[in-house]
Amino acid sequence: MYVEVVLLVLLGIVYTTTAFIRHRNRFQNFPKGPSGIPIFGYLPFLGKVPCQTLAELSKTYGKIFSLKLGQYTVVFIHDFELAKDAYRSEFLTGREQLALFEKRGVYGLGLLEGRQWQELNRFVMKCLRDLGFGKKSLQSSIMEEVVQTRSLLEKNTNKPLYLKPLIELAVVNALWGIITSEKYDIEDPTKRHALEIMSDGIADQNIVGIAAFLPWLAKLFPTYTGYTKGLRYFEAPEQLVKEVVQKHVDSYVPGTEKDFIDVMLTKIYSTTEPSSMFYKNVGMKNLHYTLIDLFFAGSDSMSSTLGWSFLYLSMWPEVQKKVQREIDAVIGPLRLPSSEDKSRLPYTEATMWEVLRKSSMVPLGLLHTATDNFKFEGYFFPRKTIFLTNLHFIHQDPLYWKDPENFRPERFINANGQFQRDEHMIPFFIGKRVCPGESLALQEYFLFFSGILQKFEFSLNPDEPVPDIGPRAGQKQSAAFGALWTSLQRICSSSAPGINRTAGWLKELL
Ligand code: HEM
Repeated sequence: MYVEVVLLVLLGIVYTTTAFIRHRNRFQNFPKGPSGIPIFGYLPFLGKVPCQTLAELSKTYGKIFSLKLGQYTVVFIHDFELAKDAYRSEFLTGREQLALFEKRGVYGLGLLEGRQWQELNRFVMKCLRDLGFGKKSLQSSIMEEVVQTRSLLEKNTNKPLYLKPLIELAVVNALWGIITSEKYDIEDPTKRHALEIMSDGIADQNIVGIAAFLPWLAKLFPTYTGYTKGLRYFEAPEQLVKEVVQKHVDSYVPGTEKDFIDVMLTKIYSTTEPSSMFYKNVGMKNLHYTLIDLFFAGSDSMSSTLGWSFLYLSMWPEVQKKVQREIDAVIGPLRLPSSEDKSRLPYTEATMWEVLRKSSMVPLGLLHTATDNFKFEGYFFPRKTIFLTNLHFIHQDPLYWKDPENFRPERFINANGQFQRDEHMIPFFIGKRVCPGESLALQEYFLFFSGILQKFEFSLNPDEPVPDIGPRAGQKQSAAFGALWTSLQRICSSSAPGINRTAGWLKELL
């Protein structure tokens, strides 16, 4: 017995020492950072606005540093050039499979990695392009939504305004049309529930943090850590997507594909290679979760960007006037702006990009993981190392931006008076795994932004305090939906000379 105990202790010592040496070697040539506290690491110190805390840390630890967050070590990048070089690599197209997604499994565009992600991503990008990204048919369906939004605004003039549900629904409708060729019927309880719970979920910063980085603790105390809530948010659109896919399967006729689901079903039905992401059941699961990803990622970011736009323009009325004068001069009041007008509205486009810069909708991007061991900038990153990039910081970095704190669309206007995109603007991320919705988002943004400002003017309610426009808490800037849209709720309208621009209170309508 005595010998067995000694052997066991010895074995324990050897195991622990080897594990320690392996860990030390693994992280020997690794960027440094503050250590935080046992178990939680630096999680409790990230503060309410992590992108700001991280930017402060980068002053001490450099442009590339690491933090222990719960059970994960995360590398943070705080420089445009470094981000450009790093994400050019195939090695950084991985995704951390968070415990929140355990039930889902590794399916769908947002979670697949490596070759499997490439196969699905190539298909989704082509499919969305073929279905009309940048095409007339898509443009006219977005314009229909703009007209609808304007007529709702028109009925409610010169009063405080609650814009969120109205814009959100218009944006979801445009996206839902491409995916399912249906209108998003907000009277349908499943659809209403999915939209409400999804927008709450994105606003709730508790679903990141402990639920993401300390999964064992989250599972032990699911209610306190926000884990249960997080699961509910992610599962909200499941039923909705299940129903819509089933409807398409039941009515499927080859050769008559009219939307994203039909096109992907054709791909699934014709795939015979068992290792393909489109093969039988795997293909169906990838369809299901890709729809959820498109819906999740596409609706909130777009409607929040519009929300920020009207908020900034209320705070910088001279910019709003300049945009409207340009629209008046180039388009006039009689027809809606179309995508073809964009090149003739440089100040309007510059203002949109200034909104994208200042709001930095997805301030830290999404988690990327190394799909293999990876050497970069003299460091060695073992497979599965997690990377996050502070896009908010990059969009404010004084190295690239003069007076970054100011809202100044002129920074995107060149010497010839034309709009000029700046390469340091990466709101849709950079490298291999950029946002697949960028082209739709930019088209939709322009049509809504110019179409609404053509007719309506936004201003702050003088009876309310000036809203805070700094970065918000949470993973996405829409995590501040509450604050943001409360601000908008305070917005009231007034008439501008020349064209009658008005806005109003929409609560009773939606
Ligand atoms: C202003 C609007 C938008 C912004 C600022 C935005 C930004 C982003 C960013 C920063 C990422 C993370 C990339 C990464 O770190 O891997 C992303 C991913 C994604 N976006 Fe967007 N996006 C917008 C609109 C859209 C739209 C309209 C769609 C749908 C058509 C969409 C679909 C997606 C999807 C599916 C992903 C995950 C892609 C992947 O994992 O490979 N986004 N977006």
